[in-house]
Parts: sequence; C-alpha cells; structure tokens
Amino acid sequence: MAKRLGILTGGGDCPGLNPAVRGCVLQAARLGWECAGFLDGWKGLVEAQSIALRPEDVEDWINKGGTLLGSSRTNPFKREGGPELCRQNLRKLGLDALVAMGGEDTLGVAARLYREFGFPVVGVPKTMDNDLSATDFTFGFDTAATIAVDAAERLKDTGRSHHRAMVLEVMGRHAGWVALYTGLASGADFTVIPEKPVSIKAVARAVESAHRRKKHALVVASEAVELEGGDASQPLDEFGHNLLKQRGVGERLARAIEKETGIEARCAVIGHIQRGGPPTLFDRILATRVGVRAAQLADEKRFGVMVALKGNRIEEVSLEEATGKLKTVGAEWLELLRSVSIDSH
Ligand code: F6P
Repeated sequence: MAKRLGILTGGGDCPGLNPAVRGCVLQAARLGWECAGFLDGWKGLVEAQSIALRPEDVEDWINKGGTLLGSSRTNPFKREGGPELCRQNLRKLGLDALVAMGGEDTLGVAARLYREFGFPVVGVPKTMDNDLSATDFTFGFDTAATIAVDAAERLKDTGRSHHRAMVLEVMGRHAGWVALYTGLASGADFTVIPEKPVSIKAVARAVESAHRRKKHALVVASEAVELEGGDASQPLDEFGHNLLKQRGVGERLARAIEKETGIEARCAVIGHIQRGGPPTLFDRILATRVGVRAAQLADEKRFGVMVALKGNRIEEVSLEEATGKLKTVGAEWLELLRSVSIDSH
C-alpha cells in the first residue's frame, strides 16, 4: 500500500507556497507516496479537513500566488485538546508523515508536536519577512521586496513631479529585511527599520537635505518601527503577535516630516499587495527545491527537521534550531545603508 503524506501551509500567505506544494507532491509521487492537503493550515489538521493532492492537481501551480490550500493563524496548542486532535486525525486519515510549510509560528508548532508527541513532521520555511535564522532566504521575500521596489520607484516619479517627500510603508513584522532591501534597491534617501531606532528629527533632516539637492525625497519605513509618541498596544493573534495594521507608521512619519520641514509629504502603504501575485523566478526555484527536499526527507523518515538554504545548497536543520531565534538586520547591513547615503544615518 502507498505511504501517505499530509501537507499544510500556515501563517501569512506568500508567493512560493504553491510551487513548494507542487514540488513536494510531484517528488512524493515519484517516490511512491500519495498526498493530502490540509485546508487552512493547522486548522485543517485539527478539524480533519483535507483534499487529495495528485500530481495532476498541482502541475500548474508553479506560478500561482497565495496558497491554494488556504491558510490561517490557528495554533493547535491554544485549542482544547488541539495537539491530541492533530495526532488522531493524522492516524484517522492514514498519514505516515506531514510537511508543514510556514514561518516561525507554524514551524514552532511543528517543533513542539515533534518534541512532545514524536510527530513525523518535516518543516519548509516560508515568509515574506525573511526572518527565520536557520536559512539564508525564505521564499516569498524576493517577490515581496521586488513588488516594494517597484512601488518605491513609482512613488519617486510622483515625488519628483510634485517636489514632495514620499513615504513608503512596507510589511515585516519583527524584522526590517523588506524595508532594508527596498530602501537599498530603490536608492531611498532614508530607510527606517525596527533594528535601528531613529528620531523623527533625524529622518526630517535627511528629507530636507535630499529635497534641497533634488526637490524630492523618498523614505522607506517598516511597519514595525517604533516612533516617538507611538502606541504599541494592538490586538494580538493566537501566537501573541501584535496585529500591526492599525499603527500607521508611514502616515505618522509623513505628517511629522511635513510638520518638521514644511515639505509636502504623502504616504503609501502597500500592505498585502506584497504577499499576492505570481512568485519571482528566485522564489519559484527556491520553493521548488525546498518542496522537493521535504518529500525526500519524509521518505527517508528524517523528521523534526526543516529544509534550509545555506549559500546555494539545500540542507536540513533541526526544527528546534530553526525556530529558536529570529533573524534580524545586523550591523553589516546598517553599515551598507550608511555607505550609500549622502546624509549620515
Ligand atoms: O508575517 C508576514 C506578515 O505579512 C507580516 O509582515 C505582517 O505584519 C503580517 O504578516 C500581517 O498579517 P495579516 O495578514 O494577518 O494581517
């Protein structure tokens, strides 16, 4: 009888999830496995909601955005009897292994299920935030940053036309990677990330100076930045994270810039636009590689691990190590930002 593999995608969707599922299903089929996809992340496993995933179901998923399996931020450890239901449902559906695709939260659940219940699980890293420390890149990030750079360049055109200061607010919950790459790749005049607190006055000075030189300025800001006088209290999700959507960092920065400098300022928040649409070439290839490797690891019964990109090699790390600490922007990147700015940051 064929062995059976369950696959789920949890947490915020991102481009690359469908190619990763496709890679996993196609490779699994070649190794003699049948696959089932759980609907809406861990919720699907807790509630035993799944669909069959045959090679012909996923063959055209290489360029599809979002996750066709659906996602949620459900945490089984926050549900009455949740972990036990996961175990029972895996058995009930006759599954021999599970591939969980997600970020720190989804993979944190996978790590706990493996540690506490010996769950036969393999992790696949995804997140537009790129903040998982055990892998050099997560798929979703390249597409998100590429979309943000495009947005920044469009804002620059309007800034130049109207001699304005333009502020672009990008996502990135705990880490400034998307803002950093966007700022660097669009030649922003100031990039504000949570790892390097700055005063509003410092941003305003840089904007003033850029405006003096060229009559427009671009600021890229991460949604997670703490601004002076800000309100950090927001509703939390099931994993205890702030829902950042109401903080309005970009808009507050634009108002403060206008107040400090007298330069007309506008803000654009691209939000979830960064998470939709077809994955870039980089994300399609990375997603395919990690999806394929996850199926191979399940076949080899190598559980409790996450697939990781190290340099240009696909390797494995333990789920414990993968979820132990977040990857944030370090000193060498801040130095690079400084190297390419006319005004000192
Ligand atoms: O973790 C990915 C991410 O897009 C963050 O950058 C952002 O803060 C969060 O998800 C938004 O979550 P939601 O889609 O639940 O609003």
